[in-house]
Amino acid sequence: MIEVGGDGRTWVLSGPTSSYALHLGAGDELLHLHWGARIALADAEALAAEPGPPARGFESPLDGREEYPVEGGPRFVRPALSVRTPEVRGTEWQFGAASVAAGELRLRFEDTAHRLGITLVYRMRGDVLERSAVLEHLGHGPDVEVLRADSAVWTLPERERWRLSQLHGRWAAESRLVRSDLTYGEKIIGSRRGHTSHQHLPWVALDAEGASEEHGEVYGCALAWSGSWRIAVQQLPDGRVQIAGGSGHDDSGQALLRPGESLTTPVFAGLWSAGGFGGASRAWHAYQLEHVIPDAQDVRPVLYNSWEATGFDISEAQQRALARRAADIGVELFVVDDAWFGRRTSDRAGLGDWTPNPDRFPGGLKPLADEVHGLGMQFGIWVEPEMVNADSDLYRAHPDWVQHFPGRTRTEFRHQLVLNLARTDVQDYLWEQLHTLLSSAPIDYVKWDFNRSFTDAGWPGEECPQRLWNDHVHALYALLDRLRAEHPGVAFESCSGGGGRIDLGILARTDQVWTSDNTDPLDRLAIQHGFSQLHPARVMAAWVTDSPNTQLNDRVSSLRFRFVSAMAGVLGVGGDLTRWSEAELAEAREWVDLYKEIRPVVQHGELYRLRAPDGGLSAVQYVHGGEVVVLAWLQAQRYGEPVARLRLRGLDPAGTYEQVGVGDRVGRSDRAGAGEVHRGAVLLHHGLHTGLRGDLDAAIFRFSRK
Ligand code: GLA
Repeated sequence: MIEVGGDGRTWVLSGPTSSYALHLGAGDELLHLHWGARIALADAEALAAEPGPPARGFESPLDGREEYPVEGGPRFVRPALSVRTPEVRGTEWQFGAASVAAGELRLRFEDTAHRLGITLVYRMRGDVLERSAVLEHLGHGPDVEVLRADSAVWTLPERERWRLSQLHGRWAAESRLVRSDLTYGEKIIGSRRGHTSHQHLPWVALDAEGASEEHGEVYGCALAWSGSWRIAVQQLPDGRVQIAGGSGHDDSGQALLRPGESLTTPVFAGLWSAGGFGGASRAWHAYQLEHVIPDAQDVRPVLYNSWEATGFDISEAQQRALARRAADIGVELFVVDDAWFGRRTSDRAGLGDWTPNPDRFPGGLKPLADEVHGLGMQFGIWVEPEMVNADSDLYRAHPDWVQHFPGRTRTEFRHQLVLNLARTDVQDYLWEQLHTLLSSAPIDYVKWDFNRSFTDAGWPGEECPQRLWNDHVHALYALLDRLRAEHPGVAFESCSGGGGRIDLGILARTDQVWTSDNTDPLDRLAIQHGFSQLHPARVMAAWVTDSPNTQLNDRVSSLRFRFVSAMAGVLGVGGDLTRWSEAELAEAREWVDLYKEIRPVVQHGELYRLRAPDGGLSAVQYVHGGEVVVLAWLQAQRYGEPVARLRLRGLDPAGTYEQVGVGDRVGRSDRAGAGEVHRGAVLLHHGLHTGLRGDLDAAIFRFSRK
């Protein structure tokens, strides 16, 4: 809902529980009024009528109060917008018009010196406010160089103490949650690598006065962008807090706007919740399921992928044998990973040549795809379209198609170079290759990988080579959008060496993400705990792999622990099934069957993080209608210490809940429970006896409301 004040200069956007209000001052300065609990228009008007801060010699009257601080004028804060023409730098705008249509508020300003139109866009979806900015060169003037254009700046209310939550990490250890007190100055996170997220997911949360998992005010901001980005959390000298975010890490230039051209920033979404971190996560999940993720109402299938088992050493016969075993344990989607194409027998060659390797797949992919379909499974493949090996037909034909600076070393990581997707000839080539590939065999799923960062991001001959950073991402989006439109049955997974490209931008055009190359079931609990702060289980791919996990850390864990860990998201299996015993395969089949029963609750339910993984007992709970699923893990039990009871959440205290199914007994027979009836109030206030014991134990509990 959007309300407009009587003066036409005050606006209130409201969701079910929250409101956001802003006001245009007498000098056309756009001032922030409110973000938080729902308020009425009259409340916003009262706030707008309050006098501004007294004039002081060294203080800006605007800093900390503006919706979108531009460079120039009486401001000292980090500018959201920095532009220049050869003669003039900075922005002075005049208000043009406001429009409210189709749930969107657009406020349009103009800088006459630059002939630049600046439109700030606001749209409320649930309690998530989507914000972005549009710049347009209005013609008849010099080109405008855009040094930086943030999507939005968020202003927090005055509170006693702020705490910052962020998701940090690295390859194989992504999305780990850390919380710290916010102090004066700027805290900057981001990526200057051309992709999103091993180091930080583009999200922050701020809570004041001690929010907890289920209580207190939490503000969150997340960027819908899959390239380099920056979020700056700033505590200004007077204690006010602002959060600026947008694409590009630095202020060194993103675009050159010629007369008639325009630039639209990615969305920087914001959310307020009074329900603590859990309430904020559930609101983020609901928003993505409803407004971001394609076909989110469908459940994702159980997949098999042999990458950890076979690496580059694959053949058609071997994949057929694995497919038969995968089908036997109930897998629904069989994926051929790397090394099916070109001369790709190691990571040194082949990227760029997207035709099946004739030695390995003499009849192309279709015979295998047909067999997989015959076994009742969908068929998927791996690609890494944005990359090329120097040892490839593509690179030999087009060495100028990669990002590079003339006369400089072309830096290689994993023996590969990055294609310059900003070039239209590269875009055409990739479309042609991928469209042909998807037309050549009945392919249902594509794992789209990206295995190195940008380094030598040069574009010889281009007037504004820096635009390559943004244009690459737009070209990737356009390619995915076109492939999805042309091949509507095909699902896509975003992968970048695990979780290197996870954000709201890529999630708008992929069906799931590869959370991490780390498939260790215990390490994964921490990664999943962080991931769940923002993203829902519906997109979080998780595989059960071999034990001991020789690729990673040699940890030995039971099939039970591995399955219960991976069942917290979209279940997959990635072990070498040819080496699993008959007993292991039989047990795996039971787990897969159980997963299929609980997955509507896991993938579409509301998530409650009951206990964080910190060495002892941890658990998550999903509630979907009257169905409840609890996954619990015990990392290690201390001698003489009983394992705590698990208090559930989100139940009706007056309701009764019947324990259902045999889920808790897969793989062993020492736990009864099916058919027991529990009182909601007891589960909520006293909790469940899990029966977990020892090290690396795990269990699943299912309840149905009676
Ligand atoms: C990346 C992915 C892996 C696998 C390999 C193949 O590392 O994250 O899952 O697909 O590439 O080379």
